[in-house]
Amino acid sequence: MPGLTIGDEIPKLRVETTHGTINLHDYVGDSYVILFSHPGDFTPVCTTELGMMAAYAGKFAERGVKLIGLSCDDVESHKKWIKDIESYNGGHKVNYPIIADPDRKLIKQLNMVDPDEKDPSGNNVPSRALHIVGPDKKIKLSFLYPGSTGRNMEEVVRVLESLKRAAEHKIATPVNWKPGDAVVIAPSVSSNETKKMFPQGFTTAELPSGKEYLRFVEGV
Ligand code: BEZ
Repeated sequence: MPGLTIGDEIPKLRVETTHGTINLHDYVGDSYVILFSHPGDFTPVCTTELGMMAAYAGKFAERGVKLIGLSCDDVESHKKWIKDIESYNGGHKVNYPIIADPDRKLIKQLNMVDPDEKDPSGNNVPSRALHIVGPDKKIKLSFLYPGSTGRNMEEVVRVLESLKRAAEHKIATPVNWKPGDAVVIAPSVSSNETKKMFPQGFTTAELPSGKEYLRFVEGV
């Protein structure tokens, strides 16, 4: 299905939010931004997700990452819903803006439509989409979950850590990686370059092919 995906620049949209009108590119500025959508206000899974985002806001801020949510109801509805979100989640304040999209125009432009889920009037609703946008305004990573599956905020932190390391060093993070684990050296790095780039040393897995492509390095 065509639509905004990794590597694409997010559209230059002016959006109505609980914090007033926001120009999305200006909001990203020089930061990473997590732009995440929800099927609707006053729905159970969304209430738990937005509350957990509020609880994790400090972790994201420490990493220089800003948050912005989207749900397809209007701003007045969002403001009322925020009281439930904060109450359910132990009082963590929802300090990030939530975009309103009552006409469902933004969710199409941002590739956040759930093809199966409809509201009681038969209108499309957003999926649980989450785009991590880089300072260059391009999408670095996307999750697309259906309404029935809530996201895991620890996974969002984990992938941010991976993205940032991969942007700074020529590395990638292997299966089930978590911060502190060894990373792998990117295939584009030649053996000669490896010694210069990773003076701490590296280990190479011995494989039946004899090819030396699975190279682990610690401390990145
Ligand atoms: C929810 O937020 O609970 C929800 C929304 C849409 C479909 C299923 C669950």
